[in-house]
Amino acid sequence: MSRVFFHEVVTRDGFQMEPEFVPTDAKVALLDALSDCGYAKIEVTSFTSAKAIPMLRDAEEVMGRIRRVPGVEYAVLVPNLRGAERALESRADELNLVMSCSESHNQANLRMSRAQSFAALSDVIRMVDDQAAVNVSLSTAFGCPMEGDVPQATVLELAQRFADLGVRGVTVCDTTGMANPVQVQAMAEALQRVLPASLQLVMHFHNTRGMGLANVLAAVQAGIVRFDGSLGGLGGCPFAPGASGNIASEDALHMLQTMGHDTGVDLERLLAVSRDLPAVVGHDVPAQVSKAGPVWQLHPAPCAPA
Ligand code: COA
Ligand code: ZN
Repeated sequence: MSRVFFHEVVTRDGFQMEPEFVPTDAKVALLDALSDCGYAKIEVTSFTSAKAIPMLRDAEEVMGRIRRVPGVEYAVLVPNLRGAERALESRADELNLVMSCSESHNQANLRMSRAQSFAALSDVIRMVDDQAAVNVSLSTAFGCPMEGDVPQATVLELAQRFADLGVRGVTVCDTTGMANPVQVQAMAEALQRVLPASLQLVMHFHNTRGMGLANVLAAVQAGIVRFDGSLGGLGGCPFAPGASGNIASEDALHMLQTMGHDTGVDLERLLAVSRDLPAVVGHDVPAQVSKAGPVWQLHPAPCAPA
């Protein structure tokens, strides 16, 4: 079974949508715990406008205080040039640039047209040069909550244009859980057909309609080996109507590990971190394996009636 690379996004995608600000100390403690779990990459925060995303207004402090574990990449989300400058100052290993595949969501999320975003991000890619790795996340790639269907050709064209600018990776994001497994398989195959093999392809699913893990399965069977996930199943874009949590990292990793994939993640250690998450955010979280336990954790037989 293939090696699968997992990226944890709970402190970015997860916390950006929380109703209550997660204190900086709690973010740093969680990130330090996650750093010891074996992730390939952790998306720490975003360098966005504090008015747009107030929950991540402590981005500089978080980046400055986390412990960096060798072998783990520390990424940050970046919407524009100002964000990129802040990200480089914070010594991020990767800048994850973001724009949408649909016009309406790009306007709602970034207050720019897609053409303006593409031009701005092209400038960012030139400015960053070899100071950090660059990934581009394409939101609403499997459907837009305002426009409906997003043509596969739109996603392929955007991915191709960013590949031509020399980015290291492209993440196709199902921002509001509209993707189905057949669509995911077709997208995975098309992306691998048209993009250079050296480009890192990542898939980012939300579980808004319960299709998240089915989509991971379809993607992995179609040859995708990199995934984003959010601990506890937290997450969502505040500017996408009806958005809800990402696939829960622990549930996806448990599925992949029971299928025989090498994920690099110490699941027992991660489950211990996951069980502390409700206390951090002040509410229950959707993830299931942290509650049920992994399949290899057996229970004593119930007592026979006397
Ligand atoms: N970091 C910090 N501040 C920023 C910034 C950045 N990357 N980009 C803009 N700002 C500030 C400006 O300095 C300005 O501040 P002021 O009001 O004190 O003068 C203010 O934000 C507005 O700037 P403007 O360029 O007019 O931006 P905008 O209001 O059109 O917003 C974005 C554009 C992209 C900055 C904003 O929509 C954003 O941050 N979106 C992020 C959305 C997101 O992360 N969604 C979830 C992930 S998909
Ligand atoms: Zn997301």
